[in-house]
Amino acid sequence: MLFLVAGCANPPEQAAEAPQPIFTMDPHSHARPQEARITHLALDLSVDMDKQEVSGTARYDIATAKDAGRIIFDTHGLTIEGVTTGDGLAAEYSLGDTSFLGRALEVKLPPDARTVTIAYRTGPGASALQWLAPQQTAGKQHPFLFTQGQAILTRTWIPIQDSPGIRFTYEARVKAPQGLMAVMSAENPTTVSADGSYTFKMEQPIPAYLIALAVGDLAFLPIGARTGVYAEPGMVEKAAWEFADMERMLESAEKLYGAYRWGRYDVIVLPPSFPFGGMENPRLTFATPTILAGDRSLTSLVAHELAHSWSGNLVTNATWNDFWLNEGFTVYFENRICEAVYGDEYARMLQLLGRQDLKSTITKLEASGHHADTHLRLHLEGRDPDEGMNDIAYEKGFALLKLLEEKAGREKFDAFLRGYFDAHAFRSMTTDDFLAYLEEKLLKPESIDLNIAEWVDGAGLPANAIEPQSDSFVKVEQEIARWVAGAPAKELATQGWTTFHWMHFLRHLPASMNPNQMKELDDAFAFTANGNAEVLSAWLEVCIRNDHDPAFERLDQFLTTVGRRKFLMPLYTELYKTEKGRVMAQSIYAAARPNYHSVSVRSLDDLLAWKDNRPPASF
Ligand code: BES
Ligand code: ZN
Repeated sequence: MLFLVAGCANPPEQAAEAPQPIFTMDPHSHARPQEARITHLALDLSVDMDKQEVSGTARYDIATAKDAGRIIFDTHGLTIEGVTTGDGLAAEYSLGDTSFLGRALEVKLPPDARTVTIAYRTGPGASALQWLAPQQTAGKQHPFLFTQGQAILTRTWIPIQDSPGIRFTYEARVKAPQGLMAVMSAENPTTVSADGSYTFKMEQPIPAYLIALAVGDLAFLPIGARTGVYAEPGMVEKAAWEFADMERMLESAEKLYGAYRWGRYDVIVLPPSFPFGGMENPRLTFATPTILAGDRSLTSLVAHELAHSWSGNLVTNATWNDFWLNEGFTVYFENRICEAVYGDEYARMLQLLGRQDLKSTITKLEASGHHADTHLRLHLEGRDPDEGMNDIAYEKGFALLKLLEEKAGREKFDAFLRGYFDAHAFRSMTTDDFLAYLEEKLLKPESIDLNIAEWVDGAGLPANAIEPQSDSFVKVEQEIARWVAGAPAKELATQGWTTFHWMHFLRHLPASMNPNQMKELDDAFAFTANGNAEVLSAWLEVCIRNDHDPAFERLDQFLTTVGRRKFLMPLYTELYKTEKGRVMAQSIYAAARPNYHSVSVRSLDDLLAWKDNRPPASF
């Protein structure tokens, strides 16, 4: 009771005058959180599928330092229609210069302002939004919209303080076309509303890159008590079957690093143009349909996005330079979940595939002189953060944590990680903060001596990285050797091989093979007809390298239907190595580009030196 009285004596104005203690300077946001920051966002939006426009209002609760006088938002390509503060009084505002960071929106604040409301609409080039025509969906009947916020795209559909170090709660009212369902990274509906109106609530504070919205012809199926899946109606059963292990994953994750703090955990399977494998939007992971392999063999991706509910969404990289704190920890956690659910050998195969990716990324970055991009701590000032986000954060980050696990012993390391998540829950973390915490809680008490500076601020993979080992992969290599020595492909001992075995097999075939060998492999293992996107894309790379014509129709089809950047980049890169391939790449890209997401388009335009002044359909 006394507390309540004390609470009343302490008016909210006063609480609001004390902004959060320390904000790290974020080179990718115009916001000045020390002066004024948002603490809650209330969206009231309509989604116009015909005009391809989101419009409405965003109302913010704000906390300001004494005499702040202004608050700064990030915007990119938005039309600002008006700004009011408090009780509806028009506020003075101005928009800064445009750069790759968008434009700062500065709003003048009267002394006692506690809320700001911005009326706005999105522009035709909003990179966070992908508007899909019915033809680009599985059902082919209805349009579809999804958003992608990470890293700095949320500002293209909401005026926001778009820095991972600034957290706020949110609620939203979304008016979607009648008959379609809208879902967000929030508390979600499970049925279609009669008039297309939906309301959402995210009660845990999150950074702007984790706000997400999808609108389409969607259905929901539960998997466990806290887990379920959204997908187009024709795919939702397949998705629910594929992700049957989700509830077990969630339980395993909690056993490792503490309670799941977000209520439900669902996955939405998006149309194939989604540019990523998965995106860890809180409560609702956004996922590519290319993980629906039909045999549950690619669900480690769900373990990864689920793990972000701790590493990333609960303890968040303070800036994109600290991206490895999100992804490296998540790859480690993903591996532990997979070990618990699918066993040791599965986890080791996953580690080895990751290490292979890391080595090839390091080789490429070093060959092109980008040595600093192989550091864990990045220096992305002045660059689009997307350019520096590659396997290094994931796999070199993982390698460091694996080394720490070995040095400390698993039990101590698990206690350390659990303590780390608890101590910094709903906060952001810089690399320096982490290093100090690591020193204090693990290295010093356990007397661990480690070349941590080399790991964090040095190039390449340090010599003391532990090499993952897998007996299964040794066997795969033995079978390749037998084939190379003359054993017929059909007689290789491939019984019981999983997707991971085949990926390893395809990655380790001889660099050059003749048409007979290619045909023999395809006759024996039907790679060209394989429906597993990981196996197929690895095979198609081999086909391009060996100019294996019979697979090119399939390649064309794959590149025009799948928009996941991870598959597109290596295939187009391989095509670009020969004159014939270049011609093919240009013609496929010309046809496919309007259907790709802006994220993939940006990378591919660079790769293919694409010069086209016409904006693509998705821009
Ligand atoms: N958060 C990432 C996706 C991302 C990274 C989006 C950087 C924008 C900028 C997500 O968690 C992720 O890592 N996805 C991977 C899958 C994972 C299993 C490695 C992907 O999309 O391939
Ligand atoms: Zn991730």
